[in-house]
Amino acid sequence: MEFKRATTLKGEIRVPGDKSISHRAVMFGALSEGTTEVTNFLKGADCLSTIDCFRRLGIEIENTPERILIHGRGLHGLQAPSQILDTGNSGTTTRLICGILCAQPFESTLNGDASIQTRPMKRIMLPLSQMGADITSLKGNGCAPLHIVGRPLHGIQYHSPVASAQVKSAILLAGLYADSETSVIEPALSRNHSEIMLNYFGATVTTEGTTATIQPNPVLTGQKVEVPGDISSATYFIAAALMIPDSEILIKNVGVNPTRDGILRVCKAMGADIILQNASFDKGEPTADLLVRSGKALRGTTIGGDLIPTLIDELPMIAVLACFAEGTTVIRDAQELKVKESNRIDIVVNNLKAMGADITATDDGMIIEGGQPLHGAVLDSYHDHRIAMSFAIAALAADGVTTIRNAECVNISYPTFYEDLDRLTRG
Ligand code: S3P
Repeated sequence: MEFKRATTLKGEIRVPGDKSISHRAVMFGALSEGTTEVTNFLKGADCLSTIDCFRRLGIEIENTPERILIHGRGLHGLQAPSQILDTGNSGTTTRLICGILCAQPFESTLNGDASIQTRPMKRIMLPLSQMGADITSLKGNGCAPLHIVGRPLHGIQYHSPVASAQVKSAILLAGLYADSETSVIEPALSRNHSEIMLNYFGATVTTEGTTATIQPNPVLTGQKVEVPGDISSATYFIAAALMIPDSEILIKNVGVNPTRDGILRVCKAMGADIILQNASFDKGEPTADLLVRSGKALRGTTIGGDLIPTLIDELPMIAVLACFAEGTTVIRDAQELKVKESNRIDIVVNNLKAMGADITATDDGMIIEGGQPLHGAVLDSYHDHRIAMSFAIAALAADGVTTIRNAECVNISYPTFYEDLDRLTRG
């Protein structure tokens, strides 16, 4: 797909529903008594993989244009799947579903695409095994395909070596079925959508600092869930409006949960003009409209430590944005980028170098010297949706023509991304 410079970005936009919250609504709805009704559900390929897996586990799910209806069967109502569960490209589906499957009275096998088959699963296999789970990596490499034999589980207190909401959530979900309470202690707080939504559905999850504790065997009850717009999807338009001169956009109804809003904090540190309007709070998840305007000179910043989990998916776009800032931007403590849908350190650095940026890869991040103008190049997304979207935006602020191969992978988290971008660049 080809892109060239845009002269402006103007207008109002609603980005699709939050991916993390959409996944969880289906999963927790499936384990609840009664029906869960989800509006603004993200119909990206990842969340459709979650729907497909739960249908194979015996859950009736209606997918209509306006809403998703999940007819839950309670904590103990899942049925043995007759086929392999296909989690597609979705790390969230793969890891969270393991926490549920390891407690069921049946066996199951799950697998996903080529990317999923390289992503580390030992990070969930280890704590779940400590709870009594029987999970085998069928190729012996710590990755999917995984075979799971359901077993009775016991509660644990787990010190996670990574700040990962997927690891935390897998353990909390297994904890629903354990014989005593389960705690996860993280090195830094990761997104807390599971804790918020599990409580809303009737579980008891308490948090203190970076420790989340779940009580076993609750009765979960189906609920109405209105999914906020995904701040990770909004990030592409935020960055575009800051990089393209003469821009002003209003992004409506974006989820601004503090465990996810690192992008806003970084933009502020860089000197950007972003105003939050219409702040609201729905079932524990805060939302706001974001007014973003170009015109302010951006300056480089340092991003690391506890901030990293709050913007982990935004780092490819932030690296591009840093090319448009005065001075040096350092991204550190972000080694997790290497085990995402692609190795996002190598790919971001190589693609930005191809566009003329001054950027260096480090062991746990990258260093960007801002101010070098970008030019068009032939790039690949490596089938990683966040790489495709970040470089589509880079191309709009670069000279010449940029070609992005495998650009259609945006359907993982934002199927209408190019249409929305096209509309806003026409002003
Ligand atoms: C997610 C958690 C994060 C994030 C991913 C979605 C979730 O992954 O990168 O896109 O929904 O729990 P990690 O748990 O691996 O940090």
